[in-house]
Amino acid sequence: MAELIENILDETDIQTLLEYIAVEDERSDIRPDVSSKHPRWDVDDWPQHIVEKGLNKLYPNGFVMEEITFQDTRIGLKPHTDNGSLPGTVGQTVMFCLHAEPSAETLFFNNYWQGWRHSGAFFTRQHWTPFQYKLPGKDGELVYVEDLRILHQGLLEGHEFPEFDVDSDFIKLVADTIKKRSLPRDEDIITDKETGFIQAGPRVNDYRTLSNYQPEAMFSEELHQKWLKDVPLEDLHGLTIDKILEWKKNEIYSWDREQVHCSTYQHSMKSMITIWLNKN
Ligand SMILES: [Fe+2]
Repeated sequence: MAELIENILDETDIQTLLEYIAVEDERSDIRPDVSSKHPRWDVDDWPQHIVEKGLNKLYPNGFVMEEITFQDTRIGLKPHTDNGSLPGTVGQTVMFCLHAEPSAETLFFNNYWQGWRHSGAFFTRQHWTPFQYKLPGKDGELVYVEDLRILHQGLLEGHEFPEFDVDSDFIKLVADTIKKRSLPRDEDIITDKETGFIQAGPRVNDYRTLSNYQPEAMFSEELHQKWLKDVPLEDLHGLTIDKILEWKKNEIYSWDREQVHCSTYQHSMKSMITIWLNKN
């Protein structure tokens, strides 16, 4: 069950956290769609005291920290669970919402997945490869690319791609993104040892492994249009909505990592901190 705590951060706190993510350093992972930063608890120099203040309110009995991810993102994550809990525990996700243009929501389903994956599990009925991607196009909007490798080959051969501003920087961006999307997705090497970036595992197609899955239930087209237009409707059949949390930037949210959730599509850009921990 998702919960929220209001009035955790003030404007100065939010500015400090946004400034931290804006500075690129060895814990940063910069990509065309998402830039993230992965400070280590009690190791790196970062505004930990602000986050700790919020977590102490949320978990008065204490917590065990696992991962921290700052994100500036232009995309919305499709239905998924968060990364695996420590054995014998139910892990929590905590999200500090820092900024959204123009607005953002997180949508929770009545469905849970108890399988274990370090990176959590994404659910889709579509064919998926890591080389499907959205790159910034000429007009600033993200443009879907079915296979980055084919695009890269076409660029090298001098083909025209009028939807993109093609120059040497763009070709390098495509090559670098292919390299990052090619990182191994095996459980034991899923975290980039240098930046701390967590590579998502392969997608899950079998919805029968979800609790409360209703194979005959068709997801409402109206709700799909309103909240989840960028998720294929077919991927939502059999799932039902628990609640939709609208982001407010001085609030933090927490939920069980096993609960399936996703982003709505309203934002053009949003910034947040996502934390995985276990409560005492
Ligand atoms: Fe998540």
